[in-house]
Amino acid sequence: MLILGIETSCDETSVAVVKDGTEILGIKTFSQINKHEKFGGVVPEVASRIHVKVIHYLVAQLLEETNIKPRDLDYIAVTNCPGLIGALLVGVSFANAYAFALNKQVIGVNHLEAHIYAAFLNTTETPLLPAVALLVSGGHTSLIEVKNIGDYNVLGNTLDDAVGEAFDKTAKLLNLPYPGGPAINKISLSGNPKAFHFPRALLKNENFNFSFSGLKTSVLYEVTGIGMKNKKPLPLTEENTANVAASFQKAVIDVLVHKTAKAISKLHARSLIVCGGVAANSELKKAMIALALKNNIKAHIPPIQFCTDNAVMVAGLAYHKTNEAAVCVKEVFADRPLGSN
Ligand code: KG4
Ligand code: ZN
Repeated sequence: MLILGIETSCDETSVAVVKDGTEILGIKTFSQINKHEKFGGVVPEVASRIHVKVIHYLVAQLLEETNIKPRDLDYIAVTNCPGLIGALLVGVSFANAYAFALNKQVIGVNHLEAHIYAAFLNTTETPLLPAVALLVSGGHTSLIEVKNIGDYNVLGNTLDDAVGEAFDKTAKLLNLPYPGGPAINKISLSGNPKAFHFPRALLKNENFNFSFSGLKTSVLYEVTGIGMKNKKPLPLTEENTANVAASFQKAVIDVLVHKTAKAISKLHARSLIVCGGVAANSELKKAMIALALKNNIKAHIPPIQFCTDNAVMVAGLAYHKTNEAAVCVKEVFADRPLGSN
């Protein structure tokens, strides 16, 4: 079964064709990063307009390069929540129009569920279930029990900033380029993670929620001196920047490891999934692999191109949702919870 997947929830326009849920026949992604860089973050209206401009070309190129005729597609899958509303609408409108013209049905896909599904694309080692999934992206931070594909129990969420958001805001404070995650990851390699002590929030808390806004504020105080008596601003030399970045990153990873460890033992999880853009972080990966090893389970972390936003995870997941296919996806609800219809 051939499914065309479409992903436009944020700043990547991505289209892909996946066969039978796992065989990737082709993917085309247009990254908008350099269009948003000068603003220090994604500008929703700019993102929507770029999606409108490029989506037709990407689909045409993809089908030409893969030698697939539009009529050979079985379904059109599209991310329809959560995300930037205008950006989502471009993908959903395109998917509906394209499907209508081809007399096909559309499958609406939850973006967060698709991120989790990225761990199931590797068929030689699919995650044993139940699994604990740590979903860390620019907009979300959640710990989720994965009972099956399509059957989830959200254990906890961030109460304020998402991890990726904290990386991006901290990078801005350190005059590092956008997106902040990769920049902090890179400069941290030469920094001392013990140089500064930043707070680890909600560690003693019994639940699985996170909070990262205090950590971000703490970095702000350290760098600017604001709110600290007799504290001068920290000169942002390369060494200081690397040390602040490494200490911030370590604080984030400590919290993620602590909460994930608790979830694994509480649920007697048989595997660990780490997904979403921040799963591309080299130090987080090392820490999660070590955590899984300690628990005698396997860590499933998709390759970088499937951690960040992509249409393969959308087309792949849709294969398991053909019973939800409809003539048209009517709703784009940004706050529709994971796994609900
Ligand atoms: O999943 P994603 O591509 O988009 C959303 O759905 O949000 O995640 C983007 C986020 C950004 O905040 C970016 O800074 C972060 O993922 N990110 C990283 C790394 N690569 C991307 N964060 C930490 N380390 C990285 N290497
Ligand atoms: Zn995402």
